[in-house]
Amino acid sequence: MRWATILISLLETCAAVSTVNRRTCQRPSNKPLNGCPKNTLLVGPGQNFPSIQSAVLSLPNDTSAYNILILPGNYTEQVNVTRPGPVYLLGQTSFPNDQTKNTVNVLWANATGGTLSTLDNAYTSVLTVAPTFNASTTGAGPTGNPVPADTPFGNSDFRAYNVNFINNYAPYGAGPALAVSVSYANTGFYYCGFYSYQDTVYIGKLGNAYFYRNEIAGQTDFFYGFGTAWIQSSLVSLRSCGGGITAWKGTNTTFVNKYGVYIHDSDVKKANSSLSIAGKCALGRPWNSQHRSIFANCYLDDSIQPNGYIEWSKTTPRVDFNTTMAEYKDFGPGWNVTGRLASNVSIVMDYAQYKPYSTLEKVFQYPFSGKFGNTAWIDRRPDR
Ligand SMILES: *[C@@H]1O[C@H](CO)[C@@H](O)[C@H](O)[C@H]1NC(C)=O
Ligand SMILES: *[C@@H]1O[C@H](CO)[C@@H](O)[C@H](O)[C@H]1NC(C)=O
Ligand SMILES: *[C@@H]1O[C@H](CO)[C@@H](O)[C@H](O)[C@H]1NC(C)=O
Ligand SMILES: *[C@@H]1O[C@H](CO)[C@@H](O)[C@H](O)[C@H]1NC(C)=O
Ligand SMILES: *[C@@H]1O[C@H](CO)[C@@H](O)[C@H](O)[C@H]1NC(C)=O
Ligand SMILES: *[C@@H]1O[C@H](CO)[C@@H](O)[C@H](O)[C@H]1NC(C)=O
Ligand SMILES: *[C@@H]1O[C@H](CO)[C@@H](O)[C@H](O)[C@H]1NC(C)=O
Ligand SMILES: *[C@@H]1O[C@H](CO)[C@@H](O)[C@H](O)[C@H]1NC(C)=O
Ligand SMILES: *[C@@H]1O[C@H](CO)[C@@H](O)[C@H](O)[C@H]1NC(C)=O
Ligand SMILES: *[C@@H]1O[C@H](CO)[C@@H](O)[C@H](O)[C@H]1NC(C)=O
Repeated sequence: MRWATILISLLETCAAVSTVNRRTCQRPSNKPLNGCPKNTLLVGPGQNFPSIQSAVLSLPNDTSAYNILILPGNYTEQVNVTRPGPVYLLGQTSFPNDQTKNTVNVLWANATGGTLSTLDNAYTSVLTVAPTFNASTTGAGPTGNPVPADTPFGNSDFRAYNVNFINNYAPYGAGPALAVSVSYANTGFYYCGFYSYQDTVYIGKLGNAYFYRNEIAGQTDFFYGFGTAWIQSSLVSLRSCGGGITAWKGTNTTFVNKYGVYIHDSDVKKANSSLSIAGKCALGRPWNSQHRSIFANCYLDDSIQPNGYIEWSKTTPRVDFNTTMAEYKDFGPGWNVTGRLASNVSIVMDYAQYKPYSTLEKVFQYPFSGKFGNTAWIDRRPDR
């Protein structure tokens, strides 16, 4: 590691320590705001802010930082964050390092399948972090919905700790049903849960997202987008199989970044033992031929097909020289090197191929500041 890198990460660590003191704030007590930073807002039943969105809407549209502490509960609402300044959502909990014990659920039920397929997926999301509605849209075609050129970058540092986002429209893939949608924004999710069946996680244009010790559950194309997502030490839960786990797209608006979805040191497993999906789930498929996804150092259970990734479809394979559907050092019963090599679509990377995507600084390049990109919005020590 170079000295400059060490210095940058020290500075980032100090910045994070001074702005977040999440454990003392998240600890349940009679005076919930004890131990929280001064300007923390309180959300809960019977409080001034009964919903998360009412607290978010009360914040000034500027660059100042706010924490929002959320008391235990099931909040049925959509949460949209457009402001540029840091917003940290903290779920109250005695177990800040255990996602399975989260007490805060944000629920919404919407999907754009069937007769509603003319509506953009943007309408369905439980949480949206984007500067404008149009910036958050998926659209169609190789470049998606055009985002007006003068659209500003949205939130510079959005975080959620110990919050579950659940789109419970249907208990099966019934069209796009987003749990989270991120565009033109930097977002970090720590000990969070994301649940739906189709298109669960959308990281859109110029969207940056870091997931640490989350559970992300889905069935069909449940990580999709144009942006850049890094999933670290998380649980990817297979609720059935359909499409692929990842379905990424490159466009001329995302080439400024090392766009793609990078899943590291995570477990990819069926959601429970009653599912019979051995050998049926694909790691991913190309939403367009510039798809880029890498599963690195992941444990794969036997749900994963021997061939790993698949073509988009037989008639529209969308696999060419630009397609990166790759793995690096995966293991477990779902890892089959013979099957991968025979597939003609899965790339088994060696270190030289993997290296350009091997660190946060290498993939999060936009908005650019400094030699190593800009990752100050990532909490490097969320367990403290
Ligand atoms: C918030 O401020 C930005 C930057 O000044 C501006 O582009 C945007 O329209 C404002 N949003 C709202 C909802 O006022
Ligand atoms: C939220 O809903 C779930 C499922 O209905 C329930 O088990 C849980 O107790 C609820 N949580 C709170 C804090 O009310
Ligand atoms: C989803 O939300 C949109 C926008 O509010 C609405 O028009 C549509 O009917 C909703 N879809 C479902 C299935 O509820
Ligand atoms: C959040 O954004 C979606 C998509 O634009 C919209 O349908 C919904 O009404 C918004 N919700 C709130 C609470 O602003
Ligand atoms: C948003 O996108 C739609 C569809 O492309 C377009 O008709 C509309 O003018 C755009 N709105 C803004 C504010 O740019
Ligand atoms: C197992 O997971 C599937 C998919 O989420 C769900 O439909 C089913 O109810 C779960 N079964 C049990 C026994 O939890
Ligand atoms: C990207 O391509 C689309 C469609 O070809 C074009 O309309 C748009 O201006 C291009 N955007 C950039 C940033 O080059
Ligand atoms: C790969 O992508 C580049 C940039 O979009 C494009 O010019 C080229 O034609 C693509 N190559 C293939 C084989 O599709
Ligand atoms: C691995 O893949 C090969 C080629 O597809 C297949 O013949 C073999 O049965 C697979 N092995 C396992 C353990 O699934
Ligand atoms: C991979 O390519 C080889 C050589 O072209 C071909 O024989 C084989 O059938 C292909 N495999 C698949 C799974 O398409």
